[in-house]
Amino acid sequence: MNNMLTLALSKGRIFDETMPLLKAAGIEVLEDPEKSRKLILPTNHANVRVVLVRASDVPTYVQYGGADLGVTGLDTLIEHGTDGLYQPLDLQIAKCRMSVAVRSDFDYAAMVKQGARLKVATKYTTIARDFFATKGVHVDLVKLYGSMELAPLTGLADAIVDLVSTGNTLKANHLVEVERIMDISSRLVVNQAALKMKQADIRRIIDAFSAALAK
Ligand code: PRP
Repeated sequence: MNNMLTLALSKGRIFDETMPLLKAAGIEVLEDPEKSRKLILPTNHANVRVVLVRASDVPTYVQYGGADLGVTGLDTLIEHGTDGLYQPLDLQIAKCRMSVAVRSDFDYAAMVKQGARLKVATKYTTIARDFFATKGVHVDLVKLYGSMELAPLTGLADAIVDLVSTGNTLKANHLVEVERIMDISSRLVVNQAALKMKQADIRRIIDAFSAALAK
């Protein structure tokens, strides 16, 4: 068991977009997470397995050694913090952006200019706090766990900080993007102790991933 290499992934886009990279490293996951309820998936290598965890739990698993490595969005990584995590690669997958959005009838620029205090709803409180602090805008943050788009529509908040990909969700809810905070993509994260103990195996994966990315 000691030479077992455990990779933490979340179902959906990150899982799907990590598969071609794993394949480049000669690793194939033997079960489809959409068809199985298993949380530990075997691969074609007896000593490599994939564990399925909630996206926001990937950094926790890797930090505390429940997994040796994992794939996580930059958003999740910033919110979790990077203690104990080595981040060797930007995998350039699951790309989107973190943005500020408001109702189309809300004059964000005027409010900011006036120095008004803004009520901001978000799941990403660390990113939002840092962004508005740097900008010198006073905000009251309201922590939500999903469906952020609803907050400005119900009067819970003036603005939201959320991930935007196609912009369709904002459009469908009559919201407009008024600031682009940062570009987001998924990162490979590695447990720092595992990096020393299982150096050869982890290096092989990092090298195969970066070779595939360079293509
Ligand atoms: C994200 C985000 C938006 C949506 C944006 O949610 O929170 O709701 O995607 O995508 P779009 O610009 O292409 O419409 P996701 O589906 O990742 O799930 P979440 O609500 O759990 O964050």
